[in-house]
Amino acid sequence: MKKPLFVSLLVMCAAAVLTVNGAAAEGVKLPARDWSTNGIFGNFDRASVRRGLRVYQEVCASCHSLNLVAYRNLQAVGFSADEVKAIAADFEV
Ligand code: HEC
Repeated sequence: MKKPLFVSLLVMCAAAVLTVNGAAAEGVKLPARDWSTNGIFGNFDRASVRRGLRVYQEVCASCHSLNLVAYRNLQAVGFSADEVKAIAADFEV
């Protein structure tokens, strides 16, 4: 692991701990949630990601662009290369 990445991870962890401590100090009780993304082996809920993309395409895309997201990024959340090609084929650039 490169040093700058490690340092920024440490800073992020410290910020997360401070944030949680801050909420506890104000008497806010944070509910424990069992997210599929929890832990270092956590992963995205694939079915949920598929539903989310569909909602985005049908509702949110009319106002919010994804111009900073490449189609290949969809592979990182569980779509196969062929599925990504099929999704991209729906759009004319
Ligand atoms: C009719 C247009 C429109 C649609 C459709 C729309 N949004 Fe937005 N969205 C906006 C606008 C405008 C803002 C900025 C509002 C502001 O900053 O006051 C915004 C802001 C946001 C924010 C940032 C909120 C924040 O606190 O800064 C998120 C997250 C968001 N939208 C998600 C979504 C999602 C998810 C969908 C689909 C379910 C969606 N939007 C659909 C117009 C839209």
